[in-house]
Amino acid sequence: MDFSLTEEHLMIRDAARDFARTELLPGVIERDKEQNFPKELITKMGDLGFLGMMVDPKYGGGGMDTTSYVLVMEELSKIDASASVIVSVNNSLVCYGLEAYANETQKEKYLTKLATGESIGAFCLSEPEAGSDATSQRTTAIDMGDHYLLNGTKNWITNGNSADYYIVIAQTDKEKGHKGINAFIVEKTWDGFEVGPKEDKLGIRGSDTHSLNFNDVKVPKENRIGEDGFGFKFAMKTLAGGRIGIAAQALGIASGAFELAKDYSKQRKAFGTEICNHQAIAFKLADMKVNIDASRHLIMHAAWMKDQGMDYNVAGCTAKLFASQTAMDTTVEAVQIHGGNGYVKEYHVERLMRDAKITQIYEGTSEIQKIVISRDLLKG
Ligand code: CAA
Repeated sequence: MDFSLTEEHLMIRDAARDFARTELLPGVIERDKEQNFPKELITKMGDLGFLGMMVDPKYGGGGMDTTSYVLVMEELSKIDASASVIVSVNNSLVCYGLEAYANETQKEKYLTKLATGESIGAFCLSEPEAGSDATSQRTTAIDMGDHYLLNGTKNWITNGNSADYYIVIAQTDKEKGHKGINAFIVEKTWDGFEVGPKEDKLGIRGSDTHSLNFNDVKVPKENRIGEDGFGFKFAMKTLAGGRIGIAAQALGIASGAFELAKDYSKQRKAFGTEICNHQAIAFKLADMKVNIDASRHLIMHAAWMKDQGMDYNVAGCTAKLFASQTAMDTTVEAVQIHGGNGYVKEYHVERLMRDAKITQIYEGTSEIQKIVISRDLLKG
C-alpha cells in the first residue's frame, strides 16, 4: 500500500483548495444564514470538473480515482460543507450509480450531462417512514406495461430543488420485499412531480433539502436501472461509495475547525501567554490531530480498496463512522478553544460544529454503520 500523493493528486487538491478559499469562503456565513447556494457556484464546480470526477471521460467525466475525489471533498468541506454535499451526491450517488449500473442509452442521455455539471442529480431513497430501514419503501411504482406509475413521498432529499434528474427508489412488488424494489431515473419536468418545501436545517444550510411528491408520475420502462428487482442492491452498492465521500466531508469539517482553533490558540492570550501554551489547550489540539490523522488513513484506505476493485463496503462504513465522530468531537472542542468568540458566526467554528452533525446521520447513521461492521465481523 502506498498512499503518497501523485502530481495529479496534488494538482486537483490545490485546485479545490484555491476554489474553496477564493470562491466559497466569501459569502459562506451569509449563505448559511439565508439558506441558499447560488447556481453560479455549482456551475463553477462543474467547470472545474468536481461534479463528475470519477466518470469515464467518454461520458464527460474526469476519469480520476477515488483518492482525487476524497481530496477534493476534504478541501471543499474545510470551508463549506454545503458545497461539498452537492459534489458528494452528484459524484457518488448519482454519477457512480449510473456509470456502474445504467445501460448505454441511459448513460448517453443522462450521465453525460450529470458528469459535466450541465445537469445536477439527486438520490431519493429516504421516506417519512423509511430512513434507516431502507427496505420499508412506501413509494410505489406500478407496472402499467410500457411505463410505471410512480406514487409517494421522499424526504430530506439533497439537491431536492436544484436537481434536474432524480434517481428514485420505489417498491414495485411488495410481496417480494427488497427483491421487489426498483430504481428509476425521473426528470424534474414530468407531470405529477412536485418539489415540497425547503427544510430549515441545523447545518449544511446552504444545501437545498426538500421533500418530493410523486403523484401518478409516468416513468417510461426504459428509465428503470438494471434488471427488475435490482433497486435495493443498487441503492446499497451506490451508498457504499457515498459513505467514503461523506467520511471525507467529515474529515474536511474536522480539519477546517482544527486549523482555525490552532491559529486562534496561537494568537489569543490569557494569563499572560498565548492560550496554546496552556496544556489544557495544547492537549485538545493533540487529540484533534490524532483523530484527524486516523480518519484520513481510514478514508485513504477505503478509497484505495475501491480503486483496486476490492470489496470496500465495510472499509467505507468504518471510515465514515470514525471520521464523523471526529468531526463532531473536533468541532465541539474548536468552539471551546475559541471561547465566547466560538459561539458567534464570524469565527466560522460554530457553523462547522452544526455542519458536522449531519455526517453522523446521512448516508446511513452511525448506528447503521455499526450494523454493517458488526454483521461482517460476526459472519461465518
Ligand atoms: N452491497 C450489495 N448488496 C447489499 C449491500 C451492499 N453494500 N448491503 C445489503 N445488500 C443486500 C444483501 O445481501 C441482501 O440481499 P440478499 O437477500 O439477496 O442476500 C439485501 O441487500 C438486503 O440486505 P439486508 O438483509 O442486510 O437488509 P436490512 O433490511 O437488514 O438493511 C441496512 C441493511 C444496511 C441496514 C440498510 O437498510 C441500510 O444501509 N440502511 C441505511 C439507509 C441509508 O444509508 N440511507 C441514506 C439515505 S441517502 C442520503 O442520505 C443521501 C443524501 O441526500 C446525502
